[in-house]
Amino acid sequence: MKIAVIGTGYVGLVTGTCLAETGNDVICVDINAVKVEKMINGEVPIYEPGLDVLFHRNIAQGRLSFTTDLADAVSESQIIFMALPTPPGGDGAADLSYILGAAKDIAKLVTSYKVIVNKSTVPVGTADKVQAVFTANTKVAIDVVSNPEFLREGVAVDDFMKPDRVVIGTRSEKAQKLMAELYAPYVRQGNPIFFMDERSSELTKYAANSFLATKITFMNEIANLCEIVGADVDAVRKGIGSDDRIGKRFLFPGIGYGGSCFPKDVQALAIAADSHDYDFQILRAVMEVNERQKLVLVEKILKYYKNNIKGKHFALWGLAFKPETDDIREAPALYIVDELIKQGATISAFDPEAMNNVKAIIGDKISFATNQYDALENADALLIATEWSVFRNPDFERMDQVLNNKVIFDGRNLFDLEKMIDLGYYYNSIGRKL
Ligand code: UGA
Repeated sequence: MKIAVIGTGYVGLVTGTCLAETGNDVICVDINAVKVEKMINGEVPIYEPGLDVLFHRNIAQGRLSFTTDLADAVSESQIIFMALPTPPGGDGAADLSYILGAAKDIAKLVTSYKVIVNKSTVPVGTADKVQAVFTANTKVAIDVVSNPEFLREGVAVDDFMKPDRVVIGTRSEKAQKLMAELYAPYVRQGNPIFFMDERSSELTKYAANSFLATKITFMNEIANLCEIVGADVDAVRKGIGSDDRIGKRFLFPGIGYGGSCFPKDVQALAIAADSHDYDFQILRAVMEVNERQKLVLVEKILKYYKNNIKGKHFALWGLAFKPETDDIREAPALYIVDELIKQGATISAFDPEAMNNVKAIIGDKISFATNQYDALENADALLIATEWSVFRNPDFERMDQVLNNKVIFDGRNLFDLEKMIDLGYYYNSIGRKL
């Protein structure tokens, strides 16, 4: 099939590349000419494991191309995906200006039937708004489909190629048929494609992310309680997770959820509910608890140093909001850095992928080490904010030689408690005994 993808951010680029991989001709459009030029020259603009191989292969075989010219892309394609940002607007609700703006531009260019697919996370009712933009700007018949994306950064290619499910929101049989054909190669193992109306599809995406954010937040509160009552959150997690109704995944406590999706989507759903005069109480609590959780490590540090960390020097492992990504949007590490610096501490950080992105934002407010051990030099304590695999089994002897004190504050529960006691560490983690 001939496909256009408008927007080459995380979702757009992965979608375009993975759609090319099953033999479609995909043309990706972006208004950022510099970025488009780089992609044409074979540069992958994001760090995402496995994406580069597919990206280069499909460009080389002529199935994946990039342009700034929307007209070209629209005239060539049967299906047009919109993967555009929906940032929080001034009131916290999702800002639809990119989507509705692109819809208007596309509407002015269409000369034959197209399926317009919304891949971005958008509030309920957006498909109707997009349809209205087309009705106002063209006489050509089109169908608008809501097709939310559930991929996770770090495993995005796998998630796209083998999705747990595909959700297609449209009442048009013609569009349903085309979308079913497009997605058939991705659900060969028998994973379902759910067809539903546009509004249910739009809400499914918010409900999924908000539910997951709630699940994590619940576990974070259980972890906090474990510390108070002397229980171990690892044991509790295993104890509840083996019940299929709860499930083992997404029960790991930490220093709060971050990233470009959960914080934005939970807030947008709460605000959308509000605008319909529905007070979504759980989501308000989730947001509040998550804000607090982002600073639990700082609370632990302040308690340990009796509220005085002026002049203390900390090593920080991990800056990205989660492993296998260079994404630092809403990363808990940045909140921790901010607070510690405010209180007079200095920080030397290491992250395998995200350091350049952090440098671009905070410059030389902290120093950046070339590897995880260099970060420890003369540090009063090690802080862990991201669970990169490379941090999981470090050379403790080497650590002991450079760290000033055997003190670790671990926001991701990387190490075994018994082992840390044997090694003589003061090891303060989340929801576990000291
Ligand atoms: C999330 C969803 O998982 C995807 O399904 C969705 O498509 C995506 O948002 C989106 O809307 O685009 P992502 O933000 O890439 O994906 O990252 P996750 O792996 O879901 O992690 C989100 C946050 O939860 C991270 O800060 C992570 O550290 C935290 N988390 C996750 C925990 O604290 N504990 C866990 O057990 C799992």
